[in-house]
Amino acid sequence: MSIINYIEKFKKLHRTLYTTPSHGQGDFVAPLTQKLLGRKFFKCDFSEIEGFDNLSNPKGIIKNAQDYASHVYDSKSTFFLTNGSTSGIIAAMLTTLHKGDKVLISRNCHKSVYNGLVLTGSIPIWIMPQYNKDWGIFETINLDYLEEVLYKNKDIKAFIITNPSYEGVMFDIYRISHICKKYKVKLIVDEAHGALWNFQKSLGTPSLMQGADIVVQSLHKTAGALNPSALLHIGNDSDINPKQIQESLNLITTTSPSYPLLINIESTIRYLDSEKGKFHIFDIVKNINRLIRTLKTIPNLEVYSYNNDITKILIKVTNLSGFELSDILFEEYGIEDELANEKSILLLTGLGTTKTKLKKIEKSLIDLCSKNLKITQNNSYTKNYIPTEPRVRYIPSLVWNQPYKEVELKYSLSRVCMEVITDYPPGVPILLPGEVIKKEHIEYLSNRQKIKVLM
Ligand SMILES: Cc1ncc(COP(=O)(O)O)c(C=O)c1O
Repeated sequence: MSIINYIEKFKKLHRTLYTTPSHGQGDFVAPLTQKLLGRKFFKCDFSEIEGFDNLSNPKGIIKNAQDYASHVYDSKSTFFLTNGSTSGIIAAMLTTLHKGDKVLISRNCHKSVYNGLVLTGSIPIWIMPQYNKDWGIFETINLDYLEEVLYKNKDIKAFIITNPSYEGVMFDIYRISHICKKYKVKLIVDEAHGALWNFQKSLGTPSLMQGADIVVQSLHKTAGALNPSALLHIGNDSDINPKQIQESLNLITTTSPSYPLLINIESTIRYLDSEKGKFHIFDIVKNINRLIRTLKTIPNLEVYSYNNDITKILIKVTNLSGFELSDILFEEYGIEDELANEKSILLLTGLGTTKTKLKKIEKSLIDLCSKNLKITQNNSYTKNYIPTEPRVRYIPSLVWNQPYKEVELKYSLSRVCMEVITDYPPGVPILLPGEVIKKEHIEYLSNRQKIKVLM
């Protein structure tokens, strides 16, 4: 029986519970919470009581739901994550890496990879994707260079790549997985932003179908589920042991997983896999394509289109930095984008993106671009930062929890950084603990006064 069916059945049993959670399935809800959320959510919030299952060792309803998901995604095993893709990425690293192992990581990774580096004690070898300075984003990785790095470092154990990037740029995972197999390197794909691909191939090809060993997907990003629900899949041909993944997950995740999230994960997958769900995604894709076609006709506006997932709409307007465009959309049109950089802004769409919402951005951009905009050209908005390969003085696990002090940014050149510095979103590291602070970092971070450095 599935999680959802069992909870429906359980409610009819009218059992009296003397268990956690102590809200008693909504008998108590803090008044202000009730005002905002009502009681319904609480009615589905349970612990591992009789008949329920245990996410850390599933044997019943959770196992059934995960097996169903594994069938839908055509994976060797699929795990439900109620601690986000973050937990999936860390568990993938804990499973494939030992202390002192080398791991190749594309630098446009999410900051959760840093957490995995601290916890595993592994040694990062960074690979820089090409940087497109006209859009302020990372693009693809040169595969000849990838092969060269793996050839020169035969002891690399895993490669972690983000596909698609936050801005939707896709990699050739098929070729990458072949290269990785040749050098016996496990391929871990952070597909947090590609959760719709399994249900609409025109958006992108799932990494699971292209030979990845482990794929992590956030269901809350484009697939319309609650924060922070996610999935970890093991590829069908991979020799990754599902038991080891489970143990890694158990090391870092809560012993009280949220049943409302589990219900939502199960029902989201059921919906995505249904005819209705697939049509819904198809319809959204059609509407986004229509919007993009219109946006491309607007003078002074450009839409990014280079092998990217179109649910991420990256745009820029002539003579405006991304930050300025973002501010104008927010202040004058009440529109909030997902992220802005010096050049462009990203509009994130997904299952909840209605036609009305798409129409609103279309009209707003037409209006905005028709105006003779008075551009402030704020200098802090127009830095030409181009990320370069980090200089790692100490690996993250070595400097974790070591004494640090704060110094003025302008005096920090060549010091060892002790902070995770990212723009969030996208959460791509600019500087990580253990890395040397360079001139370009000081210029880029000039809005801040101080920085933490190793004592
Ligand atoms: C590329 C990427 N990977 C992983 C994550 C972490 O996902 P979650 O919020 O589900 O933990 C994010 C979150 O923004 C992300 O953008």
